[in-house]
Amino acid sequence: MSSITSPGVDDQQEEAASRARAEADETSERGDMAVEQVLRMFDVADEALVQLKADMQREFELGLSNEDAATIKMLITYVRELSRGDESGAYLALDLGGTNFRVLLVELNAGEAKVKSSVHEIPRELLVTQNGRELFDYIALKLLEFVQQYKLRRKRISLGFTFSFPCKQYGLTQSVLVKWCKGFKVGGVVGTDVVMQLKDALKRQLSGLAEAYIDVVAVINDTTGTLVACANTNRECRIGLIVGTGYNACYMERIEKCEKWPANYTNPKQVIINCEWGAMGDNKQRRELDKMRNEFDALIDAQSVNPQNQTYEKMVSGMYIGEMLRLAMLKLHKERALFANASVLQKLQQKDVFSGKHMSALGRDELANSTEEATKIAKDLGVANPARRDLNIMVQIASRIMHRSAHLVAAGISALLERIRKPYTVIGYDGSVIKHHPYFLRRLVDKCTRLTPKELRFEFMMSSDGSGIGAAVVAAALHKERTPLYVVRPGKVYEMQYVNVQRNASLSSSRSETTAAASSVKSFNKP
Ligand code: GLC
Repeated sequence: MSSITSPGVDDQQEEAASRARAEADETSERGDMAVEQVLRMFDVADEALVQLKADMQREFELGLSNEDAATIKMLITYVRELSRGDESGAYLALDLGGTNFRVLLVELNAGEAKVKSSVHEIPRELLVTQNGRELFDYIALKLLEFVQQYKLRRKRISLGFTFSFPCKQYGLTQSVLVKWCKGFKVGGVVGTDVVMQLKDALKRQLSGLAEAYIDVVAVINDTTGTLVACANTNRECRIGLIVGTGYNACYMERIEKCEKWPANYTNPKQVIINCEWGAMGDNKQRRELDKMRNEFDALIDAQSVNPQNQTYEKMVSGMYIGEMLRLAMLKLHKERALFANASVLQKLQQKDVFSGKHMSALGRDELANSTEEATKIAKDLGVANPARRDLNIMVQIASRIMHRSAHLVAAGISALLERIRKPYTVIGYDGSVIKHHPYFLRRLVDKCTRLTPKELRFEFMMSSDGSGIGAAVVAAALHKERTPLYVVRPGKVYEMQYVNVQRNASLSSSRSETTAAASSVKSFNKP
């Protein structure tokens, strides 16, 4: 009888184990490929940045002549002179530009600024509402509470309003909202003058609360505030940059280069232009950024309250970078390439589980070659014992996102430096991403150096609270130049009207030769 010898138990086990190993290898190889593919989606080659720079320069030209045809609107701010550094007195500032809204009392003394402020988180229902009056009523109420708290009743006080959304200005106190962004969708405000909205709300809220002599003397953008505050200490500062919840820049332009300037002009022959460049890439025919966008950018845009708007901003700013990480992780998890055996799906499906703070934390891990912060984040997702591989993947994705963001900013700044063409330019900056991410600024400076001709030297200068102090400095300079004419309404509400000494809707004055030390600028960052 012939017998077929069946494999022994040991052999069978060995075979099964080797099959399992092969399968595991294959899965992990597939996983690694999926990770590599996702990481590559955030790569942007230098040639693409050079092209972006050229595209932006073309947009700058277009925006300065024909705003309607341009995506980068290059909005005139009417702020034409930087601070003399000798402003003094107490000024109010309102700062609205993200989910936090602030009221500030800024005491200026020869370039020194002492600040008292109150911060309020804007209730969610006011960010997305049909009725803009509710938002402005809330702002006015908080302002008046502040006036009560700091005993500013019955005092004449000028207010600078920092309103950091795309606005078309018709003077220093006339600013019409073009569109909302950064998660705001408030009905009844687009197309109206936000200063009027604020004044009307103040009148509504004032009844019975306080006698206030508040005069809204200027409305500015946060980039303008940053530029003005930094120029207070360094007169070479000609660019203001914000990389925070939103992303934008402004710069000082010669009026002769601004074809759309509406009137004749005297000295100073310059004006701050608010680029509003977060909109770069929005134009449906040109779509200059599409080559660099990936499936996560498309998802972020589709989920946002303003689809097909602010394309450039959505690839860069603090409001969106956490979402990029989440969506990339979600994809990899679904492909079983990340946290394959953990139940993180539900958490990863939750919009906004990650913010700019998580990106900074992962950046710290990257620099320290550690996984400490990533471990904490994994634990928050419910993974008790995360594998080192998974933690490393998180750090790597965050790294690629932040590198892309910094490089895209470098292209914009380099484009502006070439437009300004001064041998030395200082860039004042503010915003949570650029200030708090551990290496963002360094990568930005490195890339900007590579993209910019050597003869155009530049430095970055950190502004501390430019959007608050800058508004006060602008208000102070204007306040000095105006004499109160009469009080319009008797009773509880008083409104000052002024004759401008120079009858000129600009912040115009001859600049003193002294450079004052403003406390608004904490450190000078030498790259
Ligand atoms: C958005 C706004 C812009 C602002 C920037 C930074 O891009 O449109 O006005 O300067 O955010 O806050």
